Amino acid sequence: MTTHGRIEKPAPQILRGQVLSFVRDPFAEESPKDAAQVHEAVVLQGGSIAALGSFDALHAEFPNAAVHDHSGKLIMAGFVDAHVHYPQTAIIASWGKRLLDWLNSYTFPEEMRFGSRTYADELAARYLDLTTAHGTTTVCSYCTIHPESVDAFFSAAQARGQRVVAGKTCMDRNAPEGLRDTPQSAHDDSAALISRWHGVDRLSYAITPRFSPTSTPEQLEAMGALWATHPDCLMQTHLSEQTDEIAWVNSLFPEARDYLDTYEAFGLLGARGVYGHAIHLEPRERDRLREHDAALVHCPTSNTFIGSGLFDMAGLKAAGHRIGLATDTGGGSSFSMLRTMAAAYEIGQLRGTPMHASELLWLATQGSARALRLDDRIGNIAPGMEADLLVLDLASTPAIAQRTARAADIWEAAFATIMMGDDRAISEVWIGGQKV
Ligand code: GUN
Ligand code: ZN
Repeated sequence: MTTHGRIEKPAPQILRGQVLSFVRDPFAEESPKDAAQVHEAVVLQGGSIAALGSFDALHAEFPNAAVHDHSGKLIMAGFVDAHVHYPQTAIIASWGKRLLDWLNSYTFPEEMRFGSRTYADELAARYLDLTTAHGTTTVCSYCTIHPESVDAFFSAAQARGQRVVAGKTCMDRNAPEGLRDTPQSAHDDSAALISRWHGVDRLSYAITPRFSPTSTPEQLEAMGALWATHPDCLMQTHLSEQTDEIAWVNSLFPEARDYLDTYEAFGLLGARGVYGHAIHLEPRERDRLREHDAALVHCPTSNTFIGSGLFDMAGLKAAGHRIGLATDTGGGSSFSMLRTMAAAYEIGQLRGTPMHASELLWLATQGSARALRLDDRIGNIAPGMEADLLVLDLASTPAIAQRTARAADIWEAAFATIMMGDDRAISEVWIGGQKV
C-alpha cells in the first residue's frame, strides 16, 4: 500500500493470551518445560511475527495495532504435519487390513481417481479445510502418480497462502495398471513439477518415490539422479514400517544390506531425506541415518491403526536423530495433531518412556519443521518467523474444562487438551498473518 509515495506497513495485530515460544529442544533439557517461555502477547505484521513480550510494552510500542484478546488460551505455532497423503482423505479409517493389503484394498483404488483434475481439486480443498480446522498450517504431502494431483494440491495451498511441501508419488511396479509410471516419465514429470512449483510463493517440492517395493532399481536410480540435480528439494519416502514389508523388500533387493540400503545405493539417502515410519531399524540403518542427519517421521496413529509397531522416540532422540511428527492420513486415523500427540504419548508409555507436554508440543511444531528443514521460517513463535499460529482453547469441552480447572500449571492444562482435545479446541488459526 502506498500513500503519497510512502510505503506503509500493514496494520499490526496483537494477540493476547499465553504465548508459547520454544527457545531450546525440550528433549535436551533436564526439565523439558525449561525449553519454552510463555509471553503475554505476540505482534503480527506483514505476514511475520514482529515481537513478543508483555502486553503493556507491546501495546505501547504498537499503539495502532488491533488487539485480539485470548486471555486464558494458549497461543502457539500452527501444527506442522510432516507426512500425509492428502489423496487418502476419503478412505481414512478403513477397516481391518495391515499395510500391504490396506494399500491394495483401499489406497490404490482411491488414488486411481486422482487422474481427474476435478476430483483432485475437490479433495485438495476438502483436505486443507479439514486440516486447517484442526490447527495444522503446514503439511508435507504425497500426491498420486498423476501430475494433476500435484497441481491441484499446490494450487489450493497457494490460494490459501499456505506453506506446504508436496510431490508426485512415483511407482513403476507392484501397483495396479493405471497407477504406474516409468523411470523416465517419473523423472520427467517430477522435473516439470519442480520447475512449475518449487520455490513459488510458500510452496516447495519433495521428490517422492513411494517406497522401494513399488519402484524398480531403474526408477530409484532416476529419482536419485533427479535429487542430485535438485539438491535443495526434499526427498520423501517410507522406511521399515512393517515386518512383512521389510521381508518383501529383502526379497526384491537381495543384494541390499538392509531396507535403507535400497535407497542409499541409488543416491536416496541425504540430509534433506524425510523417511516416514522408520520403526524396525537395524543398527546400521540408525547409524547411517544419523550420520547423514536425515529426518525420521513418527506417525503414531497410523502405526497403531495399521498395526505397524512402536517407534523408538526416546532412543532415537537420545542418539541425536532429527525427528518430526505426523498423522500419515489416511493410514493414520485422524487429521488432528492433538490426537497424534496423544498417540505418541501412549506409544511412549508402552515403551516405558512417557513424553512431557512440552516435548509433544515441540514435536508437533518445531520438530516437524526441523524435519522438513523449514525451522528458520515456521514451527515456532519468535520474531522474524512466518505468522502461522493457532489459538488453543484449554477448556473446549466440559470433560476437559473440569480437568483444566485442577491444573497446577500451563503444562498440565495443555496435556489435558493434548490427550482429550479435537478440532473444538482450535479457537482460531492464522496463516501468513491472516486470520482464517
Ligand atoms: N507405504 C507405502 N505407501 C504407504 C502409504 O500410503 N501409507 C503408509 N502408511 N505406508 C505406506
Ligand atoms: Zn505414508
